[in-house]
Amino acid sequence: MLETNSFRTIGPTTYLSPIPSVLVGCADPENGIRPNLITVAWAGVVCTRPPMVSVSIRKERYSHAIISRTGEFTVNLVGKHLLKAMDFCGVKSGRDVDKFAHLGLTPVAAPGLEHAVGVGEAPAFLSCKVHQIIELGSHDLFIGAVQQVSVADRYFRPDGSINEEAMNLISFVHGKYHAVSEPLGFFGYSVASPRALERRGFGKGKKK
Ligand SMILES: Cc1cc2nc3c(=O)[nH]c(=O)nc-3n(C[C@H](O)[C@H](O)[C@H](O)COP(=O)(O)O)c2cc1C
Repeated sequence: MLETNSFRTIGPTTYLSPIPSVLVGCADPENGIRPNLITVAWAGVVCTRPPMVSVSIRKERYSHAIISRTGEFTVNLVGKHLLKAMDFCGVKSGRDVDKFAHLGLTPVAAPGLEHAVGVGEAPAFLSCKVHQIIELGSHDLFIGAVQQVSVADRYFRPDGSINEEAMNLISFVHGKYHAVSEPLGFFGYSVASPRALERRGFGKGKKK
């Protein structure tokens, strides 16, 4: 039996949780701008067809001008192994530090893009072209049309499926980084047949 809570209001804030935190890649070699990374937690999926994602970036960020000028960025998923690097990219500016060099990360060509780069050590990244920029207030919302998705070879199973659990992805919960490790169900599991539950590893006595 689920318990009904009583509530207190805490004001209108961005309390949505959990949310992702990703490494957004950019570069502008034509203008002599080296590859850069900015950590973005205000990120999300905004459309399935055509596939679009969003990242919200303050105007004062070094990356803001680069992405605005080139119209390109990458969204790199972050596994536990990249957590410290992601935090660093969120507290140091590309104006002052070559973040790729400092962190020993490798900029890689992003399929479908001319300028922005992916992170060679990321489990996967999305190549995005800026579809629209919406000024909202503190942040500008960049809506990116996904041109391609690159997934590291090592996460493919022999049957061609992708083992996302092995990516050890992280999430951001009210200022703290958390592991996303325990699968608790799957899309539609609440109405799935016992056979489907068994097939997906959620049969009786396994997971709830
Ligand atoms: C966990 C985390 C999440 C962040 N999310 C955002 C964000 O969504 N938008 C933003 O503009 N800055 C965000 N920041 C701050 C930028 O990543 C930070 O100011 C960074 O140094 C900017 O890099 P740049 O000047 O090289 O572009 C975040 C920082 C951290 C640590």
